[in-house]
Amino acid sequence: MSALDYQSGFGNEFASEAVAGTLPEGRNSPQRVALGLYAEQLSGTAFTAPRHANRRSWLYRIRPAAMHQPFSMLKSGKFHNIFDEVPATPNQLRWDPWPLPSAPTDFVDGLVAIAGNGTAAMQAGIGVHIYAANRSMQGRYFYDADGELLIVPQLGRLRLATEFGAIEVEPQEIAVIPRGVRFRVELLDGEARGYVAENFGAMLRLPDLGPIGSNCLANARDFLTPVAAYEDVDGEFELIAKFQGHLWSAKIDHSPLDVVAWHGNYAPYKYDLRRFNTIGSISYDHPDPSIFTVLTSPSDTPGTANMDFVIFPPRWLVAEDTFRPPWFHRNIASEFMGLVHGAYDAKAGGFVPGGASLHNSMSGHGPDAASFDKASAADTTKPDHIVDTMAFMFETRAVIRPTKQALESAQLQPDYHQCWQGLEKHFRPPQK
Ligand SMILES: [Fe+2]
Repeated sequence: MSALDYQSGFGNEFASEAVAGTLPEGRNSPQRVALGLYAEQLSGTAFTAPRHANRRSWLYRIRPAAMHQPFSMLKSGKFHNIFDEVPATPNQLRWDPWPLPSAPTDFVDGLVAIAGNGTAAMQAGIGVHIYAANRSMQGRYFYDADGELLIVPQLGRLRLATEFGAIEVEPQEIAVIPRGVRFRVELLDGEARGYVAENFGAMLRLPDLGPIGSNCLANARDFLTPVAAYEDVDGEFELIAKFQGHLWSAKIDHSPLDVVAWHGNYAPYKYDLRRFNTIGSISYDHPDPSIFTVLTSPSDTPGTANMDFVIFPPRWLVAEDTFRPPWFHRNIASEFMGLVHGAYDAKAGGFVPGGASLHNSMSGHGPDAASFDKASAADTTKPDHIVDTMAFMFETRAVIRPTKQALESAQLQPDYHQCWQGLEKHFRPPQK
């Protein structure tokens, strides 16, 4: 465990102060805040959102967030939301891991847009990005007004210094930075790579559990939110904003991570995917992969997510007389997969940690020939223990459109479709 302190729970009404006695009692914005601080509300949902979905926090800070120089738009780089530059393809796609940079590259500079759908303007859809970095953000801070950021590290630990306090994450953990929250990414191991879902839609939340009951899947108490910590630093710094698909830069003469105390239910958090309580069949067949949902961003259509974050963690497979790997299927939803650790049980090769695959709406996919043969011959009276694995999926209701730079990248595997070409014709019609 990290030495950092955290508060446990999901979407709780947290309260945290780095200096005792800072939080006002009985009101949110008293005439004068203790210690000469400013009060500021940060709302992540409409003021009038239903109470169960309403998320906002009150920040007590050294200077208000309004205090910086005007933004200028930066030249377009690889981190963008241009998803219509090339036609979306129905082909199955798979990429090798993105290379680590050789030139000094921090988290923001190291983000590459791979795919996406919807728009930040309409607050629907997601951007899918991969980051590869080799240095900490120095003298600059970032916030994303377009979406909340679900960060899935694959290589190297990150320290996320945010307005709400610091979070440390390592591979097999995730962090979520809400829309608008300012932060700086420090690399704790010199190099880092991972995946980011930039969620333009409704905030990620825990899925309903239905007949599963009041426990299981991701348990609320395993989500960790930082405690207040602030920087009282003056200097020449840069504030980078992502706004409507573009990066903007403004000068700021102090650290924006100057929140001494805060309370509310809109805050960053982390979660250890190894804590996921995996549910599966104990008789026959598979439940649908929605059983592996960690977090979901609902759309306006009940049961049809803007985005689901799904994982395939270590687990026992015990279903009898059942084809145990994920089955062949086609799906109205679209599926971007990444591999954080180990191997994925439906592929014998080619899908490695740091790589990615994309199976879009109604594109057939499933186990490769080697995995099919192995699973078809397995003795299903005996359990299988799948270990050393952590794959994940960003699944969306809308087609995930690969970016031009992802389709033209050297990482795209031209021969991915070959993994199914060895599936033999086993059909033996009855002889008349
Ligand atoms: Fe699938």
